[in-house]
Amino acid sequence: MLERFSSYPRVIVELGMGDGRLLESLAQRDGDSLFVGIERDKEQSRLAQSRITLSNLMILGGSFEDILPTFPDGSVDGFIAVLPDPRFIDEKKEDSWKPFYKAVYSKLKLGGTLELVTELTDELLQPVTDEAYVKWVTQLKTSFLSIGFHLMDQREGAPAQYSSRCLDQFRGDPERVRLATLKLAKH
Ligand SMILES: C[S@@+](CC[C@H](N)C(=O)[O-])C[C@H]1O[C@@H](n2cnc3c(N)ncnc32)[C@H](O)[C@@H]1O
Repeated sequence: MLERFSSYPRVIVELGMGDGRLLESLAQRDGDSLFVGIERDKEQSRLAQSRITLSNLMILGGSFEDILPTFPDGSVDGFIAVLPDPRFIDEKKEDSWKPFYKAVYSKLKLGGTLELVTELTDELLQPVTDEAYVKWVTQLKTSFLSIGFHLMDQREGAPAQYSSRCLDQFRGDPERVRLATLKLAKH
């Protein structure tokens, strides 16, 4: 792993990459960086492995909770997490997911970033109010800042150039599924 990481100037890791289409498009546009996708769903990682043949993209099948500890500390330039499962972002489960993002923090190089795209829905599937949205984003920021991250950028929606299976679905219902992107850095 270390050998592969050190043969590229930049290493970008996607947590829960699904079918890998986002990582594939990023790797196609930046041949100088190594892109690593982690996905525990065997079917998704197998499909991605059989479809993607880029030399700068590596797919690791398994749980990122098990795989991350095998990376050297301070070895990753960027993590991407697009629509993580609630177990890894739900406000009510913060106590259980915070240790994982502390591990993410320790794997980042100084100046490295975590780009998190996540969604808020109403429990009754009504449109999400501005008040609920602002409260949720504020809470998220507070959690990540308490880990040690610095906030570089915060915006409603997902980066326009990003496409993934779930993102493309969620974009179809912007009032009931409100997206937020936080770009967090290790200084
Ligand atoms: C909501 S989906 C989003 C998938 C993809 N990022 C997208 O936007 O289409 C969450 C993904 O994370 C994966 N996942 C959940 N927990 C995981 C874990 N501990 N390790 C690796 N992958 C995980 C799931 O299998 C699923 O593919």
